[in-house]
Amino acid sequence: MSYPYQIKSFEEYQQAYKRSVQDPEGFWGDVAENFTWRKKWDKVLEWNFKEPKVEWFKGGKLNITENCIDRHLETMGEKPAIIWEPNNPEERTRTVTYNRLHKRVCQVAQMLKNNGVKKGDRVCIYMGMVPELAYAILGCARIGAIHSVIFGGFSAQSIADRLEDANAEFIITCDGAYRGEKVIPLKNVIDDALIGNKTVKKVIVYTRTRTPVSMIKGRDIWWEDEMEFAEHQVEKEGKVFFEAEAMDAEDPLFILYTSGSTGKPKGVVHSSGGYMVWTNYTFVNVFQYQQGQIHFCTADIGWITGHSYIVYGPLSAGGTSLMFEGIPTYPSCSRFFDIVDKYKVNILYTAPTAIRSLIGFGDEPYKNNDLSSLQILGTVGEPINEEAWHWYDEHIGKKKCPIVDTWWQTETGGVLISNLAGITPAKPSWATLPLPGVQPILVDEKGEAITKKDEQGLLKGNLCIKAPWPSILRTTYGDHERCRTNYFATYENLYFTSDGALKDENGFYRITGRVDDVLNVSGHRIGTAEVENAINMHAGVVESAVVGYPHDIKGQGIYAYVIIDGKHAADDEQTRKNILQTVTRVIGPIAKPDKIQFVKGLPKTRSGKIMRRILRKIAEGETQNLGDTTTLLDPNVVDEIKNGKL
Ligand code: PRX
Repeated sequence: MSYPYQIKSFEEYQQAYKRSVQDPEGFWGDVAENFTWRKKWDKVLEWNFKEPKVEWFKGGKLNITENCIDRHLETMGEKPAIIWEPNNPEERTRTVTYNRLHKRVCQVAQMLKNNGVKKGDRVCIYMGMVPELAYAILGCARIGAIHSVIFGGFSAQSIADRLEDANAEFIITCDGAYRGEKVIPLKNVIDDALIGNKTVKKVIVYTRTRTPVSMIKGRDIWWEDEMEFAEHQVEKEGKVFFEAEAMDAEDPLFILYTSGSTGKPKGVVHSSGGYMVWTNYTFVNVFQYQQGQIHFCTADIGWITGHSYIVYGPLSAGGTSLMFEGIPTYPSCSRFFDIVDKYKVNILYTAPTAIRSLIGFGDEPYKNNDLSSLQILGTVGEPINEEAWHWYDEHIGKKKCPIVDTWWQTETGGVLISNLAGITPAKPSWATLPLPGVQPILVDEKGEAITKKDEQGLLKGNLCIKAPWPSILRTTYGDHERCRTNYFATYENLYFTSDGALKDENGFYRITGRVDDVLNVSGHRIGTAEVENAINMHAGVVESAVVGYPHDIKGQGIYAYVIIDGKHAADDEQTRKNILQTVTRVIGPIAKPDKIQFVKGLPKTRSGKIMRRILRKIAEGETQNLGDTTTLLDPNVVDEIKNGKL
């Protein structure tokens, strides 16, 4: 497979960028010609950010799985699509060829059909990182069902909320999942999530860990049995066939829940056509993917990175995607690099938090590794500090691998700002230049473009995007108004990212972090309001306020200020443990506060608003310049909080 739209020089990047802005329809129409469409589009782009309404390739019909699988079969049927490395390196690995992937995806599609799943139905997927998760996703896409993958670290309560919001009727899960030394009993979590649920009709359970599970007759069914039955249906005269549903380019492909500044996560909805074009285009260009290379993205498919750069991007490009079930430190801290050597990985894409956690082991993670297969490195999910960048460059890339710092979001579907590996320049801890089709702008609080440089000659402001790219979110599930107010109402005619950024004299961007009440903990997005809601579920909590603070490994840590009632305050340690347990139950272990400080009061304005700015500063270790505290209802609480800082 060749990629005629792969940019091969800085000049080509400049030309592509220019054309994408001057003639977006011509530019993206040409790129889209490289895909398999059942019917070509009538119009490349129609949009307004007011409603918002964005339509790419309108009138076009396609199925993304034909682009990810079927079109590769003739020439690459026996080439590996997915290489799977289990949690335990002693266990047998699996190589899934495109032919095999085709068969499995057809079987899943048939299995779903046999169980009453139709186009447009929502299927919730709660599985560990097994190849069956990729089959499940693609099986949904093949029949036009909307998948909603939930990360295995979320609790029963989080799942219950998401099931309800999506009105999901079907679930695909595993008995359990391996994560390092732990076994997570996924099916048991699903059982808890389903208490009181009225919409879910079927739960399909894949056996991974042999964790004991209870099966409810009529509702719960085994993946293995269903797949075997489906196998006979899709196989005829030695050929495998399951007709893919022809989807409108704008039909939803999936929902993925993500945190915002309110207490309730939003179901970000991505389209079929635009998402396909963008994930493929960015995969091929950012990583400069070459046929036959092995791409190892260490993310979990429960997050957008896994959707776009383990599944849809690499597979639509006929690539080989390495899928890893475990964690970076099990059985040892060289795990990522052992995998690199074992499979001769060419592209390694990971998160700064993983890099930082490995730095702490000295040369242990890489000292016995060859790493000579590596050609390109990437990072995603949070700003990368210079120390981590240089460690990655020197010890992993041996100073010969370009590093791409890819900035993007669940809502953007794929990378928006990044250098192109080896093609456009890198700058440590800068995401650098926008991809073709991406028009960033930095604005002030009022939405005016920033034009005045600071003392270092940089522009600094809130990062917005002026026009749609093909994989911009289309809505938030079931609540379009929420999509409008969250992303398109802060500034007129702009998509607001909620990130702050700097821009240098070369037009490079550096993302400085969220400017809303969303934390980025180990590259995971968590709303402070969500954590507060969870803490407040504890019977002894009167009120709480959560802020982020700099954390050496996680990027940001969670700092909670908690007012406790008279009955519980006596036993701080126990109360602390109970609060942590409550948060784990309500959201999941990823949202557990790193620090809980018990306080008697919170700094509030006379109108009752918590002054988070002050709390943030104290959590960051600032004691002097707390800003104006005269408007506080009771300025004394600030001293008390300062004195009790953990
Ligand atoms: O703050 C930015 C940060 O992660 C946020 C998006 O989180 P999420 O939707 O979970 O997606 C993560 C994976 C794409 C952004 O608003 N972020 C992501 N990538 C970078 C980043 N911050 C700095 N540099 C990056 N490369």
